[in-house]
Amino acid sequence: MKVAMIGYGKMGHMIAQAAALNGHEIVCSVDPFAKDATCVTGHADEMAARVKDSGAEGAIEFSHPSPVFANISALVPTGIPLVVGTTGWHDRLEEVRASVERYGTSLLYSSNFSIGVNLFYRIVSEAARLMSAFDEYDVALFESHHNQKADSPSGTALDLAHRVMESMPRKTRLVTDCFVRKPEPDELHLSSVRVGAVPGTHTVWFDSAADTIELTHTARNREGFALGAVRALEWLVAPNGEGNRKLGVYTMKDVFNDL
Ligand SMILES: NC(=O)c1ccc[n+]([C@@H]2O[C@H](COP(=O)([O-])OP(=O)(O)OC[C@H]3O[C@@H](n4cnc5c(N)ncnc54)[C@H](O)[C@@H]3O)[C@@H](O)[C@H]2O)c1
Repeated sequence: MKVAMIGYGKMGHMIAQAAALNGHEIVCSVDPFAKDATCVTGHADEMAARVKDSGAEGAIEFSHPSPVFANISALVPTGIPLVVGTTGWHDRLEEVRASVERYGTSLLYSSNFSIGVNLFYRIVSEAARLMSAFDEYDVALFESHHNQKADSPSGTALDLAHRVMESMPRKTRLVTDCFVRKPEPDELHLSSVRVGAVPGTHTVWFDSAADTIELTHTARNREGFALGAVRALEWLVAPNGEGNRKLGVYTMKDVFNDL
């Protein structure tokens, strides 16, 4: 498959390597600062025109939370299947979904493409469902990442928190600031720390007077994200069960449902 990369930083380069290993060709890489990108621009419309001209059959966006929404808005009208790894735009998901439907195209997004994290999501949902029957257990989340990360809390931590709330109806409100008072019983606390070079650690605690159950996912490096993003694009461009092009907005949950 001919692939375009938007954002050619650390992840962009790793994804390009993972794509090449799977037999794909990077026909275009766009980045306003990367000297080895084939197109050096930060203008979304120019970027989308270059991606279209390159003949790319799929595009992968791993840039920065500030340009990502403009990049998505410019890429969707090209009709090229798009995988988005950059976080920080999910509050505008409904606008993006409407645009994807209007242009009859496809987009897959995830705040975490790692296969291990996607398994962890399922484990946490199931653990929260079981714990929900036992009122003596409280729950909280903690995440740590390297000090270059632009957004906080991480998109993965927010996904985990929403899964916990879905499975534990007594938790209805997410608090990501530090507490300067006692938490209310329906509040779910998620705290973040930024330090050094940590690739990403996420912990969910279930805590009672008698004991603690602690579930932790620790990323060792970023290769899992790159391989997962390539796999996601392969899934997105593959026909659906009826042999037609997949249309609409998907997440890694859909990829996993098909595994
Ligand atoms: N979803 C996931 O699984 C996952 C995993 C890792 C990282 N990420 C996210 O991916 C993004 C990139 O991570 P990274 O580690 O490669 O960061 P990075 O800083 O190494 O690279 C980001 C690149 O984006 C470029 N960029 C800035 N503005 C741009 C624009 N307008 N158009 C195109 N490119 C632009 C920068 O010049 C830089 O080279 C971050 O938002 C990060 O949080 C997601």
